[in-house]
Amino acid sequence: MGYEMAGRLAKSGGDVLVWNRTAEKAKPLEKYGARVAGQIAELAARDIVFCMVSTYKDVKEVVTNMLDSGKNAGKKPRMLIECSSISLEGSAELRELLEKKGIQYLAAPVSGNAKVIKAGKLSFVCSGPKAAYDEAKPFLDAMGKGSSWVGEGELSRIVKICHNVFLGVVTQSLAEITVLAQKAGVPRHAFLEFMNQSVMGSTFSRYKTPAFVNLDFKVTFTPHLLRKDMDLGLDAGRKFEVPMPLASATRDLIQSMIGQGWTEQDFATLLLQQAEASGLKLKPENVEVGDGLSS
Ligand SMILES: NC(=O)c1ccc[n+]([C@@H]2O[C@H](COP(=O)([O-])OP(=O)(O)OC[C@H]3O[C@@H](n4cnc5c(N)ncnc54)[C@H](OP(=O)(O)O)[C@@H]3O)[C@@H](O)[C@H]2O)c1
Repeated sequence: MGYEMAGRLAKSGGDVLVWNRTAEKAKPLEKYGARVAGQIAELAARDIVFCMVSTYKDVKEVVTNMLDSGKNAGKKPRMLIECSSISLEGSAELRELLEKKGIQYLAAPVSGNAKVIKAGKLSFVCSGPKAAYDEAKPFLDAMGKGSSWVGEGELSRIVKICHNVFLGVVTQSLAEITVLAQKAGVPRHAFLEFMNQSVMGSTFSRYKTPAFVNLDFKVTFTPHLLRKDMDLGLDAGRKFEVPMPLASATRDLIQSMIGQGWTEQDFATLLLQQAEASGLKLKPENVEVGDGLSS
């Protein structure tokens, strides 16, 4: 995600310096005019820093390392825009840490995968000081199709958590009905073509169609990261006393997939698990189907 986001920023003409733990993965960004930092301390000397890693533990580690190493050189950024999907509590702790150091903080998680970013369709949901959002907006616009500011504090985090709980539940539901239709005799491409044209079709069902039809499970989002988000959703459900029966069942189905060792492919392998549970061995249909992103 971070790679594609930085790529779009650099292509838009931004002055972009990238740091990634595994530096060689960032190297190809140089072709778009970005520079790759050797040390994380170099980020501390920038005006605005975007952070896109995995869990809150990783966010805390990366941000603390950047600030500690920058401190020696008397450097700190003016604003941090944090885009990973993390908890409300983690985000609040980060806000406190940054505010104490006089650094503005915008919580800005995203909707979309790497392919969606490439198609210019990433969207941001933001919270924090409105002035910070107004200042960040041109950069967010350079990376995607738009952003929403939903209020102060960590409100954007709960919006993103709800979004990804929906992602998990919808994917499992799509897997169930696709396998049901197929076991009754309907090829997956024919079933999904109809669904995508119907009122139930969506940007999401369309862009998952090639994976479901041709069983290309090159990772866009790992099962571990989806489980993290389902857990964040269930934690929030407990905190706010909201029952989430569908999210609970889906979380356990993702857990079964991880327990069986299906961890390195895309989370859409929920389809394969559903097929196995239904006594079906799926084969690629090798039918050319659109993903709805290029139009
Ligand atoms: N993929 C999606 O569709 C999607 C959509 C929306 C939101 N998200 C969220 O966006 C975030 C990133 O997702 P992703 O799919 O891009 O994950 P990913 O492909 O696994 O990439 C994770 C990135 O974080 C870095 N990282 C992780 N832990 C680190 C640590 N402790 N110290 C330094 N660097 C660390 C990794 O560095 P290395 O390269 O060195 O491993 C890598 O650059 C997650 O919070 C995810 O939930 C993902």
